[in-house]
Amino acid sequence: MSYRSFDLDRSIAKKQIVAVTGLLLIFFIIAHLAGNLLIFGGPQALNGYTQKLASFGLLKSVAEWGLFFIFGIHVLLTASLVLENIQARGGISRYSIDNSKGPRWWETRLMPYSGTYLLIYLIWHLIDFSWANQHGIRSIIHGVSYGLYGVAVNSFKDPLHSWLYVVAMFFLGLHLAHGFESFIQTFGFNDRRFAPGLKKFSRWFALSMTLAYSSIPLYVLYILKI
Ligand code: HEM
Repeated sequence: MSYRSFDLDRSIAKKQIVAVTGLLLIFFIIAHLAGNLLIFGGPQALNGYTQKLASFGLLKSVAEWGLFFIFGIHVLLTASLVLENIQARGGISRYSIDNSKGPRWWETRLMPYSGTYLLIYLIWHLIDFSWANQHGIRSIIHGVSYGLYGVAVNSFKDPLHSWLYVVAMFFLGLHLAHGFESFIQTFGFNDRRFAPGLKKFSRWFALSMTLAYSSIPLYVLYILKI
């Protein structure tokens, strides 16, 4: 086996790992949304759900570390593929892994930016909610602590806070639209008969995730009366 075909095999393997870890992250995003939508049910619904999760103790910690591991691999391998692609374009372009055959959609072009914004957003989001003191000052509404529900409501009552979330959800949608399609291409499901349908599906899926997630800060900001 020549060095070049070895490099190509390695790049394809990396792309497959990026696609599989991306798919696992999509499962998390769907499950996370389902939990977060409980905010519409009021404090008991949302807090009951997070308390139930917390009751899994060690299992929850293992799942969270697993999630961060998957996320880390997804980000690092994607960065490494992007660098390889840049190098290959400067050198021998036919060895580059380029899935942008045909017109390049703008979500594809924006991929590095949407990915970077999401990475920064995620760090902020963890500090904001996951590591927040759920019984501290940010949980208090009219002198009473409402736990994580209170933290979420107090956060999203601030327009800047809410809109920074909405922008992140917009980038999440862009990232998902391209990511899902990329998964389909990587595993060769882009048969001519199904490709347009799958592309449409990935866009609808991405849009529905953006709208559903954005509905949470916007509901708290503009509709919820406290
Ligand atoms: C309006 C949008 C969102 C809301 C209201 C929200 C809410 C929350 C809350 C309340 C927690 C803490 C859960 C706990 O400590 O029990 C959390 C954790 C987390 N969120 Fe979000 N989230 C949103 C969007 C997202 C998005 C788009 C992602 C991923 C791209 C994400 C990734 C995570 C991760 C990785 C954790 C830590 C794992 C966990 O504790 O479950 N979140 N989120």
